[in-house]
Amino acid sequence: MEPSLPLYRDSDLYAAQHVEVTEDLPFWGRLAALIPGPVLELGCGDGRVSRYLTERGHAVVGVDNSPELLGLARTSAASSWGGAAARFEAGDVRKLELPGHFRLVIAPFNLVGHMMDFTDLVAVFRSAARRLAPQPNAPGGLPSRFAFHAFAPRPEQLDRTPGAVSFRGTVRRQAHVRDRDSGTSGSAASGSGRSGSEQPGSGRFDLHRPDSQELEWYEAASFEPATKLLRLRWFFIGEAETLERTLTLRVWWPHELVQALRAAGLRVEWTGGDFDGSPFTPDSEHAVFVTQLAGERDCGGRYRRRRTSGSGYPSSSSSSRRLARWSSGTL
Ligand SMILES: C[S@@+](CC[C@H](N)C(=O)[O-])C[C@H]1O[C@@H](n2cnc3c(N)ncnc32)[C@H](O)[C@@H]1O
Repeated sequence: MEPSLPLYRDSDLYAAQHVEVTEDLPFWGRLAALIPGPVLELGCGDGRVSRYLTERGHAVVGVDNSPELLGLARTSAASSWGGAAARFEAGDVRKLELPGHFRLVIAPFNLVGHMMDFTDLVAVFRSAARRLAPQPNAPGGLPSRFAFHAFAPRPEQLDRTPGAVSFRGTVRRQAHVRDRDSGTSGSAASGSGRSGSEQPGSGRFDLHRPDSQELEWYEAASFEPATKLLRLRWFFIGEAETLERTLTLRVWWPHELVQALRAAGLRVEWTGGDFDGSPFTPDSEHAVFVTQLAGERDCGGRYRRRRTSGSGYPSSSSSSRRLARWSSGTL
């Protein structure tokens, strides 16, 4: 397996950087509640989403190619979130060798940005398609779904002056933290200026240990139109240390994602522009796709007709309308 990125090798810093990324969690929760059975998370990282789902009663299998992030996920699952229902496996999501099938496969938080070319993107989508359980032959049986998130291309991100540095926030890095709920120590991370006001069971960590370090996080970005690669440089500046991390992401335009899905035998059921059920528009910051195997029959045994929504993406069967309702939390 290829070595993971330096950014992910420093798992404490990565987790501290993203501790405030929570806006997508209810979306994944609603999806898991709609589709019963264990969930497969591709690129599970430190277990941010897996944790949310297992805490709501869903069994999760997470796959990642970063030993450091997997270690963090396993340690925190064992020490602080009672994650018996979570299993974390090392693997490359482009050539997944995991046995078994799942009714729901997810790839949150721009995993697809790590796919540097179309071949890799199709490979991930094929991995997902192969792991989707065939639809049960019973009335009312829901088709299996593969859902993923990508950051949508945005002018303010792509047109940034190369070398210009912007402030991203404050990161509180802790090499070893204590879970305030269980009192156990673990090599996990936390951060970003949250106060100690979270509720028991929220899984937040104590941020007031004297060994935590506050770092200011700055970003420089440059986008290469020819390759569609976004090169990010992150600087973390603290009293005791200054760190630099780089991350290169492929920016995927939604039509490229749709093409890759089709090549992998998947069809788009619903495309959102946010995690609240908003439709995708050219101004959307996110692209959220819910897909299923092409040719899956609906519950009545007929093949679904494909229609095209106003956004230009296939959508809008009755089940898609239902999806739109649950994605906004109204189902
Ligand atoms: C942005 S993180 C998302 C982590 C997690 N899903 C979340 O939502 O917080 C992307 C993850 O994908 C993993 N990843 C990237 N390329 C991968 C590959 N080819 N195989 C397995 N994991 C990969 C990285 O190690 C990282 O943990």
